[in-house]
Amino acid sequence: MLESSTGAASGMAGTGKNRYAASHYAGLAAAQPVTPLAAIEATDIARTPTGIGELDRVLGGGVVDGAVVLIGGDPGIGKSTLLLQTLDHLQRLGLPTLYVSGEESGAQIALRSRRLGLPASQVQVLTEIQLEKILATIEATQPAIAVIDSIQTLYSDQLSSAPGSVAQVRECAAHLTRLAKASGIAIVLVGHVTKEGALAGPRVLEHMVDTVLYFEGDTHSSFRLIRAIKNRFGAVNEIGVFAMTETGLKGVTNPSAIFLSQHSEAVPGSCVLVTLEGTRPLLVEIQALVDSGGPSPRRLSVGLERDRLAMLLAVLHRHAGVACGDQDVFINAVGGVRISEPAADLAVLLAIQSSLRSKPLPKGFIAFGEVGLAGEVRPATRGQERLREAAKLGFAVAIVPKANAPKKPIEGLTVHAVERIEQALEVVRGF
Ligand code: TYD
Ligand code: MG
Repeated sequence: MLESSTGAASGMAGTGKNRYAASHYAGLAAAQPVTPLAAIEATDIARTPTGIGELDRVLGGGVVDGAVVLIGGDPGIGKSTLLLQTLDHLQRLGLPTLYVSGEESGAQIALRSRRLGLPASQVQVLTEIQLEKILATIEATQPAIAVIDSIQTLYSDQLSSAPGSVAQVRECAAHLTRLAKASGIAIVLVGHVTKEGALAGPRVLEHMVDTVLYFEGDTHSSFRLIRAIKNRFGAVNEIGVFAMTETGLKGVTNPSAIFLSQHSEAVPGSCVLVTLEGTRPLLVEIQALVDSGGPSPRRLSVGLERDRLAMLLAVLHRHAGVACGDQDVFINAVGGVRISEPAADLAVLLAIQSSLRSKPLPKGFIAFGEVGLAGEVRPATRGQERLREAAKLGFAVAIVPKANAPKKPIEGLTVHAVERIEQALEVVRGF
């Protein structure tokens, strides 16, 4: 059996004469003993909490020894600030730390630490961009955790290309990763993100590292989100929420209401969505503006997927007879938060409809639910939790998918359960 499959494989590879391609490598390395999985001890991963709760949440409980974490985000969003705060915290817990900066001078970093209220910080600082020197310093100083700010500024002597080029970034990250694995030192790589949202040059880094975190949010608003998009040591799509203050980033432990803009009166084109980010429900205002467009009407969306918007407009036309074909349609998730779950659909459609009719939804209104191509409204996960959170924040009226209707009434909340998009619009016309 084995023989015939090997023969088939080498036949496919077209080697012809040699039926055992593996024998090419015979003598290059000795065969290694293998172990049944059950015989390997399953040890729990040792984590060190950073002491910054919202960061620990996205990391899955803390930093893992020998792990490589990539933190991406727009310039000025707070990467250096957060990492300096984190290192200071760890240093105070007695863990040796190293902050390698290729972007700022020692004086600039010192200035930041004073601003952060950490004048006595014992964090060790190295300002250097040459990889070989950095590797040697990490090996010599043996920190528990080293931050490289940023990976794009490093260069290796071994390559002739410029710092920031894909080859350099990849080479430097690979060496640092190898060092982390060999030494058990946790390494955090800071990466800049381009306008298009990809980590400049190297998306390649994402598969090399253990954990990828991205900063989200509007640099103009004071709130910052960190989302885990990959984590070998924890759940993904958990988010951490911070507020940027005079003295650095502060965790927001109860973030559910921060993405609501405070209208004193209900306005047309606004609908509050209850979305679920990781384990926490979050209320986010979805705004829509429908306005007569030119010959080729525009569809623009901020924080939500544009393709999904096009699909929802088609559903609205086909199943509810509401046409926006000749209109510009803009939608926005308030506060720079990015929403990827389809449960946003119903809120998007209700906001669009509200703008089109120039009629506000009632004050204290929320909605959630996925809308299918057939016009059906599909249930969202953990609907009860979403409704309870909305009720807790004083919301009074909800439109939700039928399957998410509460079994027993939720105090202070009137819930309309619908199966189809037409029904949802009918309910709204009755307000
Ligand atoms: P920074 O951490 O330098 O961002 P990045 O490393 O992602 O480029 O960024 C910070 C921004 O935050 C900067 O515009 C100034 C502001 N800031 C504060 O508001 N409060 C503070 O305590 C600090 C240190 C920075
Ligand atoms: Mg920085």
